Amino acid sequence: MSHKRTLVTCALPYANGPVHIGHLAGAYIPGDIYVRYLRMRGEDVVFICGSDEHGVPITIKARKEGVTPQDVVDRYHKVMKDAFTGLGINFDIYSRTSSAVHAQNASEFFRKLYDQADFITQESEQLYDEEAKMFLTDRLIEGTCPKCGNPHAYGDQCENCGCTLSPEELLDPKSKLSGSTPVKKKTKHWYLPLDRYEPWLRDWILEQHKEWKTNVYGQCKSWLDSGLQPRAVTRDLDWGVPVPVEGAEGKVLYVWFDAPIGYISNTKELLPESWEKWWKDPETRLVHFIGKDNIVFHCIVFPSMLKAYGDYILPDNVPSNEFLNLEGDKISTSRNWAVWVHEYEQEFPGCEDVLRYVLTANAPETKDNDFTWKDFQSRNNSELLAIFGNFVNRAVVLTHKYFGGKVPANLKPEPIDAETLAAVRPCREALEKDVETFHFREALKEAMNIARIGNKYISDMEPWKVAKTDLDRTASILYTCLQLCADLAIAFEPFTPFSAQKLRDILRVGVNAGCDHRVGEGAPTVNWYKADEGRAVHTRPSSPAPTGDLVLTWDMLGASELLPAGHQLGEAVLLFRKIEDAEVEAQIAKLEAIKKARQEAEAARAAAEAAKKVEPQKPEVTFDQFGAMDIRTATVLAAERVPKTDKLLKLTIDTGIDQRTIVSGIAEYYSPEDMLGKQICILANLAPRTIRGIESKGMILMAKQGDGKMRFITPQEVVTNGAQIG
Ligand code: 2FM
Ligand code: ZN
Repeated sequence: MSHKRTLVTCALPYANGPVHIGHLAGAYIPGDIYVRYLRMRGEDVVFICGSDEHGVPITIKARKEGVTPQDVVDRYHKVMKDAFTGLGINFDIYSRTSSAVHAQNASEFFRKLYDQADFITQESEQLYDEEAKMFLTDRLIEGTCPKCGNPHAYGDQCENCGCTLSPEELLDPKSKLSGSTPVKKKTKHWYLPLDRYEPWLRDWILEQHKEWKTNVYGQCKSWLDSGLQPRAVTRDLDWGVPVPVEGAEGKVLYVWFDAPIGYISNTKELLPESWEKWWKDPETRLVHFIGKDNIVFHCIVFPSMLKAYGDYILPDNVPSNEFLNLEGDKISTSRNWAVWVHEYEQEFPGCEDVLRYVLTANAPETKDNDFTWKDFQSRNNSELLAIFGNFVNRAVVLTHKYFGGKVPANLKPEPIDAETLAAVRPCREALEKDVETFHFREALKEAMNIARIGNKYISDMEPWKVAKTDLDRTASILYTCLQLCADLAIAFEPFTPFSAQKLRDILRVGVNAGCDHRVGEGAPTVNWYKADEGRAVHTRPSSPAPTGDLVLTWDMLGASELLPAGHQLGEAVLLFRKIEDAEVEAQIAKLEAIKKARQEAEAARAAAEAAKKVEPQKPEVTFDQFGAMDIRTATVLAAERVPKTDKLLKLTIDTGIDQRTIVSGIAEYYSPEDMLGKQICILANLAPRTIRGIESKGMILMAKQGDGKMRFITPQEVVTNGAQIG
């Protein structure tokens, strides 16, 4: 179906931590590339995002830190917003679900569905923490796994044996909030009966959207095939949008109900007059960029909500990527295993495009993928720098050297020149097809192919050699190279906008990068870059291109002449710098330190757990059997290691009856100096044994923990040596 405009959204990230590279690769960079591309193609696009500021994890974080949930989201909202801007991801609006517009909008949305009887209510018994005065989600309940005995199993899963659990199955369940034992309490919630939408969803997705990416389509199919159940859209919580009906005190909208409505609220906040056109006119295409964990909500739940409401358009496509790992390990905010975008921006200023490039070239489009710092370095040094940057630099420097920085006339063309320029055309066609089908990784390869064409051409033609004998031919070669540079300034705009801008400044050209809808202080309304003045000229797309300026448009990509002879170039500056070994080694070391600290903490936790393990009681003994043992106090007079052993100490002790030698396997836990003068307990009448050639008479009594650690037993107060214990 034809369309007039496209509404693009990126998943609203949770405001409980900063943005990391996994987020970028999953949804935000692809979304930004798509928007930049469409705008260059002259499409009217609105690009919406914002922070997802509700949900239980935010309240838990606030509780842990002793601050309010609002404090938490204020902190991360700003960090995330700035991180996106820093990478050139310019949403028209980056708002937040704690905004007043959203509260009102989400509330109204719920109310309409409620009034239309689109919900069902169900009463159920759930676990409640009487001290924290809160219903507990599964993750907030901890107890002993009935299958493997792990004492820290969650209410929904045991991470030790991997089994799925329900909170009722846990032995000795405890609230993670207060440590108290949860009680069962009745509560009523509103549910969206997804089962009612199942036939419609089957047709809409499985029949009408066969073009969706395989991973998205496949996940939807498996959800639909296993049958949809009603889903609760309310929660017992005091942080969120209050449920706007009577009898719902203390309840808020479930975060996954209110967050997608946030897309609508943010559009409304941006365009109070015209937002409906973007959400209700069938000539608008809606595209959601998300990570794979969001598929069900965007393809099944939200469309059902929109369908129930009635007036809204439905998503045309929901491009979703798989996950990005980091150095072979799953990225995780809670385990601090991530490259944080705000830190990257501080540590690699001027390298924003490198991250954009690497995350696109290595995007987890069809399967999970791995980010490594070595790959980051090599993609920068041997692709961006060695191919793209090097080609542009050689072309511009030579033009300055031989032609005073002016595009030379095509004085002595040869067929190879036109053939080379013509080779851009198929790259452009493939690039367009790839972007339009959400294959950004392939699209980027096509843009890079243009740089490869240029690099090969200039290397083969060797204009620096030709110049010694034939300046006219040199002129044609450089003329051709500069046309390719202009191609690159267009083709790379969606992928690496900072470098494309830098290149346009070198070439002194502008670009029609289309119109955005940002409003507010300092925000441009449209990106006509007036390169020779180094600034963006703000006009509406209906306005003519700024006069006297050379403006590139997408349609010129692959044309035979983009820069006319005589056009003055600017200074040659380097597009990319080398990333040094030391820089990536520092990043790897940072990650290794994190991993080491985590492993140590895990080992300490495991040891503490093991130490708590208590052996079961031994079989009964009689009083006489016990009485047969002569246990008494003694003092260590001398101690030394038994040569050639790690575990044995030879102790000379005063038993009150005699002085004797006992060999004891405690050298792992005590040095000879530790033992000197210590009062201990011994089993005095143990039959003597010869250990390593030393006769040992008796045994030192030790307390042995679950982890194997041993401690000697010492009387609380000093007593006479030889005092009997019993
Ligand atoms: O996974 C997430 O980070 C969610 N906060 C995404 C929400 S997307 C939308 F529905 F708002
Ligand atoms: Zn278990």
